[in-house]
Amino acid sequence: MEKTFRAILVDEVAAGKYDQQLVERRLDQLPDNPLLLAVSHSSLNYKDALSAFGNRAITRVYPHTPGIDAVGSVVEDKSGTYARGRQLLVTGYDLGMNTPGGLAERIAIPAGWALPLPEGLSARESMILGTAGLTAALCVEKLLEAGAGPEDGEVLVTGATGGVGSIAVSLLAHLGFRVAAVTGKLESAEFLTGLGAWKVLDRDTLAPFASKAMAKPLWAWAVDTVGGETLFNVIKSLSYGGGVAACGMASGAQFQANVFPFILRGISLLGVDSVELPLEKKAAVWEKLAGDWYIGEQLDRLAEDISLEQAPEFLARLHRGHGIGRYVVDMSR
Ligand SMILES: NC(=O)c1ccc[n+]([C@@H]2O[C@H](COP(=O)([O-])OP(=O)(O)OC[C@H]3O[C@@H](n4cnc5c(N)ncnc54)[C@H](OP(=O)(O)O)[C@@H]3O)[C@@H](O)[C@H]2O)c1
Repeated sequence: MEKTFRAILVDEVAAGKYDQQLVERRLDQLPDNPLLLAVSHSSLNYKDALSAFGNRAITRVYPHTPGIDAVGSVVEDKSGTYARGRQLLVTGYDLGMNTPGGLAERIAIPAGWALPLPEGLSARESMILGTAGLTAALCVEKLLEAGAGPEDGEVLVTGATGGVGSIAVSLLAHLGFRVAAVTGKLESAEFLTGLGAWKVLDRDTLAPFASKAMAKPLWAWAVDTVGGETLFNVIKSLSYGGGVAACGMASGAQFQANVFPFILRGISLLGVDSVELPLEKKAAVWEKLAGDWYIGEQLDRLAEDISLEQAPEFLARLHRGHGIGRYVVDMSR
């Protein structure tokens, strides 16, 4: 068995200054967990950018390897759950937070974090989707459970060029919804219409709502990946009986609200978590993403393939809010 592997290592090089390097690590530097995977692909998510730039709410101790997503084959499973060579998929739980993550050629994890790669998805496709795809699918599920249907009217997606946002646009369009995609990157409008967006709106469209107790009802449903003041601007502009699936905080964690949209229009605020979701629920969503919700050629449109060596440069891009679509880290590059 090879004793060393390549990994991204983040360290605090001066007070509050974090550096990300491609380094060689030893297997005995991984935690003592039963399942050792040879990672073939990983992906970049907003949380990885936070970890890579020293956000201690995500990662308490450095040096650290981020990467909340990974797919790869079993090298060894001391728990006896999986045979050597089996392809497994891991998203969330503590991976990449305080457990060395998927931006590495090897990870060591509890067997209960991994799922067999769903039939119908390649390893690369599973990482184009990754945590972002799982989260987008959970948001769409929440809306459907609340009664959403394409005939209701437009569905707003905020942070639309981001990982979760762009997959939510694709998935909703695939299911027949008319999607209004809100972005700070109007120059990427073609990317969004290519994914199936019905219309593309500048982020500033929502800003005037901030000074009002309620806004004109404009959208039937929404997926919000941005949080902060944007989330309440979305809530204020939903039509009677509508709802928003809220999963993100790209613009901030806090917002000021009033009760009017809830008590005058019956609006629902639907929270989404993809990290601590029980494994069997994750598995059911992955089966959908590989089945009826398979978005086919859109997956290639969403993805940019990068090497492990390029990960620091692209993490910096995500950290500035400049990412577009999904970045897949291919360990063979
Ligand atoms: N709840 C969960 O389980 C879960 C799972 C995954 C992700 N998340 C959260 O969802 C959010 C998106 O994650 P991601 O991986 O998709 O990130 P991402 O790829 O970096 O996308 C974030 C997007 O948000 C928009 N944005 C960034 N800064 C903004 C600002 N100041 N104001 C308004 N919009 C801004 C940008 O899109 P535009 O330029 O197109 O506006 C950006 O591309 C993050 O907050 C992440 O932590 C939550």
